Amino acid sequence: MDRKVTIVGAGFVGATAAQRIAEKQLADVVMLDILEGMAKGKALDMSESSPWVGFNTRISAGQDYALSADSDVVVITAGIARKPGMSREDLAATNIKIIKEIIQPIVKYSPQAILIIVTNPLDVTAYVAKQVSGWPRERVLGQSGALDSSRFRTFIAQELDVAPQDVQGLVMGGHSDVGMIPLASHTSVAGIPVSELLDRATIERLIERTKRGGTEIVQLLEKGSAYYAPSAAITAMVESILLDQKRIISSSVYLEGEYGLRDLYLDVPVKLGRRGLEEIIEIKLSTPEHEALQQAAGRIRQTLDKLQL
Ligand code: NAI
Ligand code: 2OP
Repeated sequence: MDRKVTIVGAGFVGATAAQRIAEKQLADVVMLDILEGMAKGKALDMSESSPWVGFNTRISAGQDYALSADSDVVVITAGIARKPGMSREDLAATNIKIIKEIIQPIVKYSPQAILIIVTNPLDVTAYVAKQVSGWPRERVLGQSGALDSSRFRTFIAQELDVAPQDVQGLVMGGHSDVGMIPLASHTSVAGIPVSELLDRATIERLIERTKRGGTEIVQLLEKGSAYYAPSAAITAMVESILLDQKRIISSSVYLEGEYGLRDLYLDVPVKLGRRGLEEIIEIKLSTPEHEALQQAAGRIRQTLDKLQL
């Protein structure tokens, strides 16, 4: 395979993303983790599934960043995850330190890579990754909107008993219960506006469930946070980049004036291709939607200021 993806953090999200990427034969996969034996064991176990699953991609692991040299895409999932009662923001101090440590060797070994940050609090860690790498915004992306819109689409599909892939839905804003903005105005089922299929109260209920989607899973799992849907969202982003699919996927990107906002990461619809972030799509928002976006941005800016970033 002439494509290579490194995943830093071989925990629940990282290992499941590695498995999805390998099984789809998108790239050879390297998993890096401070728990070297655990990462190597998972890589070997995954490789041994290849005869039955039918893939021919190499999966390796370790803790030496030299293994990651010349990666096309680097996904960062290293860090601690939420437990019940914790917000994503509670992870900030520990995970910022981890992100700072990781970015330096990644920049050294894969100077041309596209970074996808997943570690929470995403709106903050993506910002730190951009600062530390010094890379242009086209190559430092955050994964959150792909997951949040996947949850919104799933809930709508279940409510209507229709195929999930026929539901298109957009979620913008921050990756937090208060900052997330699922946009019913830009959601449809096979081209039919969702407002023609569901009443306002039902749509509102599904919007609220989407905003608390991550928390709902944390409460059920009790010992960690979601990983099946997050890894699927990561894989969709990786695939669009590696195969230059130019899919429009809500992603956390560094804004430089779009939507009247700058110097922060926020989920907006973007085109993802071989150059990473290829275009930010500025859609027309209603006054309440626009205000919600400004409020979400205000909260993220406050957090960044508090953390002196
Ligand atoms: P996990 O605990 O299963 O995995 C984290 C892994 O990171 C562990 O294997 C740990 O050994 C490793 N690690 C810690 N410090 C490291 C370092 N300095 N270098 C290399 N590896 C290191 O956690 P899980 O469930 O995989 O979640 C990972 C992160 O992703 C969490 O911060 C979580 O909140 C976040 N997340 C974000 C989502 C999003 O949509 N942005 C969705 C799901 C999870
Ligand atoms: C989620 O939304 C933990 O951020 C992660 O599930």
